[in-house]
Amino acid sequence: SSVPTMLVPTFDRAVFAHRGLPTQAPENTMESFALAVDKGATWLETDVDILSDGTPVIIHDSTLDRTTDRSGSFYTLIAEDLTTIDAGSWYGEEFAGARLPLLSEFVDFLNERGVNANVEIKQNEQGAERTILLVDAVAKELSRLDPGVQVIVSSFGQPLLMKFHERHPEYAIGVLYETAALYDDWRSVLELCGATYIHPEDSGLTAAKVRDYRAAGYGVNVWTVDDVDRAHQLFNWGCTGVFTNRSAALQHLA
Ligand code: G3P
Ligand code: CA
Repeated sequence: SSVPTMLVPTFDRAVFAHRGLPTQAPENTMESFALAVDKGATWLETDVDILSDGTPVIIHDSTLDRTTDRSGSFYTLIAEDLTTIDAGSWYGEEFAGARLPLLSEFVDFLNERGVNANVEIKQNEQGAERTILLVDAVAKELSRLDPGVQVIVSSFGQPLLMKFHERHPEYAIGVLYETAALYDDWRSVLELCGATYIHPEDSGLTAAKVRDYRAAGYGVNVWTVDDVDRAHQLFNWGCTGVFTNRSAALQHLA
């Protein structure tokens, strides 16, 4: 097969615009992504889940409450419903009418602007059948990316990542870890997920840990780093990327 068994890290100082530029526009909207890219971002980070009709949609939370003018779960919605949901007014009236983007719009944007992305798959509603649906729906959209656009698929859900890698081994995988959940078995987890990258939380990360991850062959992309000095230190330790809400302010480190 032409699919490599282990993809190698392809960059060394990536600044990932976390949910776009949420310090200046409503997170995870096309407005936020466009602003981040206009201000120099070459990597975007976003969060994806699916609607009841199986359409992949960009949203971080499991409910509409925090980032839209609606409340409750979005799992009962279909793609058409999104045209009536306001995902911008909560942030500021100048963003009224911003929409929850579909993953397909995000993919079109990456192709148009020639920027790369980390797509984090959320899995707030569990279930084996739903996992397959989610994994295949995301992979189908990502397959439309131009060959020059790089993508990393990440998740906190290890069974989901294993499933993704098993069904779509051509994509680079990043395994997300909260500090408190990063146990000594990380080597076997990363191997089972077919990972290229480990995505640890910043808190508690040390030079020694970064050295171990790099020595094992993995790229290290850290979340969420908004302090310039800390980002500088992490890059000096050998981290390959940082996720930041302040991509415009950290871009010069790339
Ligand atoms: O991908 C890094 C970071 O986004 C993970 O946490 O909650 O911001 O999606 P969260
Ligand atoms: Ca995320």
